Amino acid sequence: MWDSAPPLSVLESSISNPESPIGMRMRAAYFLKQLYSNASTGSNDSSSDVQQRVIASLTSGLKDTHHGSLMRHEYAYVMGQLGDERCCPVLEQILENDHDCAMVRHEAAEALAAIGFDKSRSVLQRTLLHSQEQQQIEVYETCLLALNVMDWRLQNKDKNETTAETNFKTEAPVGCACMLNPYSSVDPAPPHPAHANLSFEELGDILCNPDRSIFDRYRAMFSLRNRGGEPAVLQLCRALDDDLRKHTSALLRHEVAYVLGQLQHPASVQALEQSLRCTREHMMVRHEAAEALGAIMEGAWDQVEPILKEFQNDPNPVVRESCLVALDAADYWGQSTTNDDNSPQQHDNNHENKETTSTFAQEKALATSFTTNSQDINKNQAILNQHFNIQPNTGD
Ligand SMILES: [Fe+2]
Ligand SMILES: [Fe+2]
Repeated sequence: MWDSAPPLSVLESSISNPESPIGMRMRAAYFLKQLYSNASTGSNDSSSDVQQRVIASLTSGLKDTHHGSLMRHEYAYVMGQLGDERCCPVLEQILENDHDCAMVRHEAAEALAAIGFDKSRSVLQRTLLHSQEQQQIEVYETCLLALNVMDWRLQNKDKNETTAETNFKTEAPVGCACMLNPYSSVDPAPPHPAHANLSFEELGDILCNPDRSIFDRYRAMFSLRNRGGEPAVLQLCRALDDDLRKHTSALLRHEVAYVLGQLQHPASVQALEQSLRCTREHMMVRHEAAEALGAIMEGAWDQVEPILKEFQNDPNPVVRESCLVALDAADYWGQSTTNDDNSPQQHDNNHENKETTSTFAQEKALATSFTTNSQDINKNQAILNQHFNIQPNTGD
């Protein structure tokens, strides 16, 4: 991901201080993720000590409300992507606290689903019922999705052992190689094999259909994301607009904006700008729209930068901070072409690598993107071979 990470103690102290600049804390969270995965390749005591310290640091950040909802939900997201069961107790505790912020609780539920620890089911079920009674719709829908995806993994476990056409954390069957997840993110729903036969428009219809279950709509979203390209981006943009008018699921729209951030396509700028501009839109959606805009660099930064600057003083702290993160990232990761001692990044942390040329938001997407594990690459290659009717090398 990055050439070098700061020492663990530097990252721990950034996270232990909610007063440190938000850009610094955000980077610290992703550097911690990097240190955690670097440590996974070692098997000695010091690697397991590093992992425990990473989890402890993220746990303390998540519990400390002084960090604000944006940072706390980001810590929960990173914990989910670590896939480590030791993260579950604090995530369960946050999810069950109905006085806590819905956005943070949502991310805790999503992280529990990403980790997929069976013992978390009871908390998810309890919170599902309680949030329905309390009409905490984002939390309710996330718990529903989490349970759906955990059931789905269980049902597909046997199939996964016998097919090479696999992807999606527990290696879900996919219908076609063009639907493979090009990102290594653990997604909240798998694509659907039958979607391989549908047009972009038909997938967009499922995504926009409020009569379909949230799980089905999410599956159509990830099928579109995996297919990629401008026609997929346009269907995702259509959903952002269409669903805001119908007002069926802010959760769905926030995930659409996230996926558009992964796709980083200039054709999404207009729709994302509209979401960010819309003050009646849910803050979770506006936040993801701001970060997604920050991720689009290729040929669109001149358009994106003034939009982010306009909302960097938004009355909603989550929206405001999201814009600041995207702008700070632009300085830090190289939108600023200067790299001299007076450049904005110098005020921050001189341990951190300043040679990177992508924005922070892109690094966030990259942190969960493109398979680098050689086993996965081989597996993907085998699937591609089948797609093109080339005989695979092995019988798997
Ligand atoms: Fe989320
Ligand atoms: Fe988010």
